[in-house]
Amino acid sequence: MSKVHAAITAVHGYVPDYVLTNHELETMVDTNDEWITTRTGIKERRILKGEGLGTSDMAVPAVEALLKKRGITADEIELIIFCTSTPDRVFPATANILADKIGAKNAWGYDLQATCSGFLFGLATGSQFIESGKHTKVLVVGGDKMSSMINYQDRATCIIFGDGCGAVLLEPNDEGNGVIDSILKSDGSGMAYLHQKAGGSIKPASHKTIDAMEHYLYQEGKTVFKFAVTNMADVAAEIMEKNNLMADDITWLVPHQANKRIIDATAARTGVSADKVIINIERFGNTTNGTLPLCLWEWESKFKKGDTLILAAFGGGFTWGSIYLKWAY
Ligand code: UT7
Repeated sequence: MSKVHAAITAVHGYVPDYVLTNHELETMVDTNDEWITTRTGIKERRILKGEGLGTSDMAVPAVEALLKKRGITADEIELIIFCTSTPDRVFPATANILADKIGAKNAWGYDLQATCSGFLFGLATGSQFIESGKHTKVLVVGGDKMSSMINYQDRATCIIFGDGCGAVLLEPNDEGNGVIDSILKSDGSGMAYLHQKAGGSIKPASHKTIDAMEHYLYQEGKTVFKFAVTNMADVAAEIMEKNNLMADDITWLVPHQANKRIIDATAARTGVSADKVIINIERFGNTTNGTLPLCLWEWESKFKKGDTLILAAFGGGFTWGSIYLKWAY
């Protein structure tokens, strides 16, 4: 009997309606469209507006559309892995909140925090439950309301991030398609360069931390860039080498959308030609856990059964990794 792989059998995404353009940012901080475009490749990003709305509120429409597309009901889902750095609350898990909102009454779930690599880590761990035979329908959600932790007076970070969410359904596949291999890495010493200073157990939120603006995302962009550009490119090349894949064997390279220059470096390192590299950073910016599923969602109609995809990401923590998968439909 051939090995069972975990295959993506449906994908959908959601981005909020509000479009924050580079030109609007010019009215908020000392920046300009030309700088943002040449340094990052971003032209606009989406922002979730409205009181009381969190990351789960973007996941609900994405997952509901996914279920409809696949022709299944929420109560058929057995496990929800919610990859996010901006959970609705510190606890309970946003996976539980989502399960309640969509009526996934038979699912258990948990949140996975691996910053921008979260969706890769979620895809890899979700696949284990399918391969082991424990579950047959696993939902992996990746999304963030980055605007909830961005200081819109800090031009070094507010230009990069956006809000958005995507989700995939994993099911068993015995035709050789699905997640074939993964390489996942982390290095906690990278914490110094990208983190949120307050709001966790080490420094709970207080008037003092709010006054010091420590609830916002802190990033030393130049250092993160250096690590990202090397590690994301290297890990994509590493998984190709490990699986004897040449650039011509790759149908699609799906890189995390943090900076167009990091994407270009990854494409150059792997030798994959520009027409096979999935890029939507110009419209959505960096949605952290949302970038990879949003790319899959937007390109879904172009994918064919058996296509070879290489996914790669790098994020705070540091975390990084790559997944080799074969598209199943
Ligand atoms: O996905 C999570 C992981 N995160 C990343 O992968 C992000 C990695 N880092 C980056 O993408 C880039 O480092 C940034 C886009 C954040 C910054 O680009 P950079 O080319 O590294 O710029 P820089 O920080 O070296 O700044 C260059 C100059 C500075 O001015 P001086 O000191 O040379 O006079 C900055 O103050 O650009 C200035 N600057 C800006 N100017 C206009 C910084 N931000 C802006 C801005 N508009 N928004």
